[in-house]
Amino acid sequence: MRKKLIAANWKMHKTPEQAQAFISAFLPLVAEHNRDEIVLCPPFVLIPQMGWALRGSRILLGGQDIFWEKEGAYTGAISAQMLHAVGCSHVIIGHSERRQYFGETDSTVNLKLRAALAVGLKPIVCVGEVLQEREAGVTEDILRRQCSIAFREISAGGAHPIIVAYEPVWAIGTGKTATPEVAAEAHRVIRAQAAESFGDDVAAKMKILYGGSVKPDNATALMSQPEIDGALVGGASLDPKSFAAIVKW
Ligand code: PGA
Repeated sequence: MRKKLIAANWKMHKTPEQAQAFISAFLPLVAEHNRDEIVLCPPFVLIPQMGWALRGSRILLGGQDIFWEKEGAYTGAISAQMLHAVGCSHVIIGHSERRQYFGETDSTVNLKLRAALAVGLKPIVCVGEVLQEREAGVTEDILRRQCSIAFREISAGGAHPIIVAYEPVWAIGTGKTATPEVAAEAHRVIRAQAAESFGDDVAAKMKILYGGSVKPDNATALMSQPEIDGALVGGASLDPKSFAAIVKW
């Protein structure tokens, strides 16, 4: 059985005070909960402070993006090494908002994925189709393309830490959720591509999360699908009560 992972993607939300208030409220709500892994992915500037606030808890930290170079003249960029050094275990890569607003492509996702693996960060690689692609019946082709390019030049031996998040773009922040069956079908496609790229053993162990309008009231139905290994939660992760309810689906 793959252990489920519930990750919060805070996107561009919260000041230091708001992050502290979240942690103070959230920690007691999940203190007894050790069934699933929990990862918080706040904006970069909050990470060191949150590392302190979370010490002694089981809650892990992740970044929302990285640049693929180690260091250098790349104004505004953050490297995998830097995230690792401030205590992150995970990093989100290739989120659809990065693809839409910041020029992320399948090839840059691959560079970032390799940079994350090189320092021991667990990458959460986001893939997913837009509405037109779903309506045109090309979802499987899109997912296969996104995954196969993301996975390029990574050996089966090095691929174990990879986590994929299936995030249909039409479900992100829209209140529309993929049905558990639609999500499970996409997860099977992603796992089949992982098997092609890395072999059956790596594919069978790979965590594939679902993301897109996960809320307390739909989390149980989604997480009960054996194919769904966890959730990447945006809007509903900003409130400690609603995120705790999702964690405890
Ligand atoms: P949402 O965002 O839960 O607000 O739809 C999910 C995501 O973008 O990761």
